[in-house]
Amino acid sequence: MKISLEGQVAVVTGASSGIGKGTAKALADAGAAVVINYNSHAEPAQQLAEEIITAGGKAIAVKADVSSEIDVEQLFEKTLDAFGRLDILIANSGMQRDASILDMTLEDWNSVIQVNLTGQFLCARAAIRQFVAQGIDTSISRAAGKIIHMSSVHERIPWAGHANYAASKGGVDLLMRTLAQEVAHQRIRINSVAPGAISTAINEQATRGDQADKLLELIPYGRIGAVEDVANAIVWLASDASDYVVGASLFIDGGMSLYPEFRNNG
Ligand code: BGC
Repeated sequence: MKISLEGQVAVVTGASSGIGKGTAKALADAGAAVVINYNSHAEPAQQLAEEIITAGGKAIAVKADVSSEIDVEQLFEKTLDAFGRLDILIANSGMQRDASILDMTLEDWNSVIQVNLTGQFLCARAAIRQFVAQGIDTSISRAAGKIIHMSSVHERIPWAGHANYAASKGGVDLLMRTLAQEVAHQRIRINSVAPGAISTAINEQATRGDQADKLLELIPYGRIGAVEDVANAIVWLASDASDYVVGASLFIDGGMSLYPEFRNNG
């Protein structure tokens, strides 16, 4: 199976680092023109765009806060100005503001919900409006458009000390499945990926030294995930190779969601 996204245009939110950055690269490698969205880190986003262009691909970096309606509208306008169409949205932007429930402030709660959940709603709505306006062009893809939401194993696994984050990802799951149900008849495919522990900046502490050993106890497959593990799955979900996959949440977690505490007979 050879996957090509040639002729397709992808927006990746939160693409200046981590899984977003790796995904933008992987989509460009597969032939897509990529819009690299960032909020505060312009330099790595611009650098990535230049890297892709130097390698013969197409990319632009665009600043937008995904929790702002105006910013999101402008992000999609700039995408159309630059590349004339939209085929793929990777709604990736996310953040953590960890605190025990005793200490969690309303600001901790709101900021995480606004980026992780409201941001995904705003981006998905803008993308779906564009997919519907464009319709299907089977010379480009069997679908009118594809959305991949960035969820987490914590859409299912409760996570003490992270009530805001876990609630946002639980919300992403039902947002994704509801939208998938609502627009599938328009040949818009909506799915999500639910990564476990991936070695990125968000996990820097948890993936080092003693902390890493503790984390590995939660991962039956015995290794911490790499950005490519997630990016490769996203490329597949964005391609016609997964054309019959609708409303799925793909866990990419080395088995973290399999209740590993029970592996020695409970
Ligand atoms: C979080 C990581 C965490 C992983 C597994 C992810 O969604 O962003 O910080 O290590 O879930 O717990």
